[in-house]
Amino acid sequence: EAEKVVAELRERCATPASLLWDVAAAMAGEMGAGLEKEGGSRVKMLLSYVDKLPTGREEGLFYGLDLGGTNFRVLKVHLGGSKKHVVNSESREVSIPPHLMSGTSSELFGFIAGELGKFVAEEEEGTDMPNGKKKELGFTFSFPVRQRSVASGTLVKWTKAFSIDDAVGEDVVAELQTAMVKQGLDMHVAALINDAVGTLAGARYYDEDVVAGVIFGTGTNAAYVEKANAIPKWEGELPNSGDMVINMEWGNFYSSHLPVTEYDEALDKESLNPGEQIYEKLTSGMYLGDIVRRVLLKLSLQSGIFGSIDNSKLKTRFHLRTPHISAMHHDETPDLKIVAEKLHQILEITHTSLETRKMVVEICDIVARRAARLAAAGVAGILMKLGRNGGIDNQRSVIAIDGGLFEHYTKFRECLESTLGELLGEEASKSVAVKHANDGSGIGAALIAASQSR
Ligand code: BG6
Ligand code: GLC
Repeated sequence: EAEKVVAELRERCATPASLLWDVAAAMAGEMGAGLEKEGGSRVKMLLSYVDKLPTGREEGLFYGLDLGGTNFRVLKVHLGGSKKHVVNSESREVSIPPHLMSGTSSELFGFIAGELGKFVAEEEEGTDMPNGKKKELGFTFSFPVRQRSVASGTLVKWTKAFSIDDAVGEDVVAELQTAMVKQGLDMHVAALINDAVGTLAGARYYDEDVVAGVIFGTGTNAAYVEKANAIPKWEGELPNSGDMVINMEWGNFYSSHLPVTEYDEALDKESLNPGEQIYEKLTSGMYLGDIVRRVLLKLSLQSGIFGSIDNSKLKTRFHLRTPHISAMHHDETPDLKIVAEKLHQILEITHTSLETRKMVVEICDIVARRAARLAAAGVAGILMKLGRNGGIDNQRSVIAIDGGLFEHYTKFRECLESTLGELLGEEASKSVAVKHANDGSGIGAALIAASQSR
């Protein structure tokens, strides 16, 4: 009985290369449709108004706010000019109290402005601000925003665990500014960017061959550099650089090729945003643990392999989190001690046979591997759109990736990288590199603020 459930899962989650190519081609197709006209695709392909990426000559002192990942961060970045390095950067992480994620807009922005205020006050001492000059702030806001300029834009919708109705459709920078005024903070918001855009900018600072910034964290997204004249929906004046960074919002990608199971359907239905962010729900950190939980619950109810346990923990949404499944998946002890420990601590499953624990590991493997392979297909889709999937001579393409899932879930990362190699083939793989861009997006915001004002 239990074997049957797992076998079925394995089969439904299969991602042979042919399927991944279909997914990649669909992604490339949606990119084109999204650029064509507003509303042309579920993949929104939002204009970032970032038309020049960092050159390495940026200088000055910038503050940053980074909202939307696991932690909210405030940071201070000192850019060293032609020396092309970040002279120093200080940062602090704060977790957002969960009730603020579904409260009101003014509560959320009040909280982040308050934290920024404290940080600035503490950092102030060592800081030399030329008299009368406002402090410059780069705001990384990791949700879909319809930008009106590089420093303003309205929230299209919330994603991940956020859901604050009265903020939708509002200007994010105006909300922040109002909250800052209430705190007596007088700062100038010089850039409003998405984390994928920040990751691209941060990585480009160090490496000119970076063509895209990708996030696999709580959520997933990608940003890349597009030719401005290849964006039919753009009505503004073409920038001198001829380029425009696009915030894809690929988390909302959907294709009938995606291997969606009954567990994914149930997860989606019970989520804060049913019917949306389907690719994200298959590939990102907020959801992978919960997919595994749903499979384990079915096993428990149907086959009783965990004995007669109280299923209340197994029934609690998001109780089993991606770091837990990562720990079980990487368990190398001969008797799977870590798996036993997690099952006990998190799910109150006290007695399991080694066979059962192996089964749990396999479920983690199926879910994480499907995620990583679909992630690779997304990256291949971008390369396809850019015409860089065929191994053009001497043209190196670097994909900068950040986010907790990529950073901490080793098997996810390894599988993503090897699958990309499998998809591109040996020749083309030589010119494509995947790079971990650590914490790039906060610094990216400072860099964009600096390069826009130069
Ligand atoms: C960080 C970025 O490095 O990665 C954040 O600075 C981003 O802006 C985050 O949101 C994504 O990762 P996670 O795992 O925290 O969602
Ligand atoms: C979600 C957000 C997107 C963000 C991504 C990664 O998909 O909608 O804006 O970039 O998560 O944080």
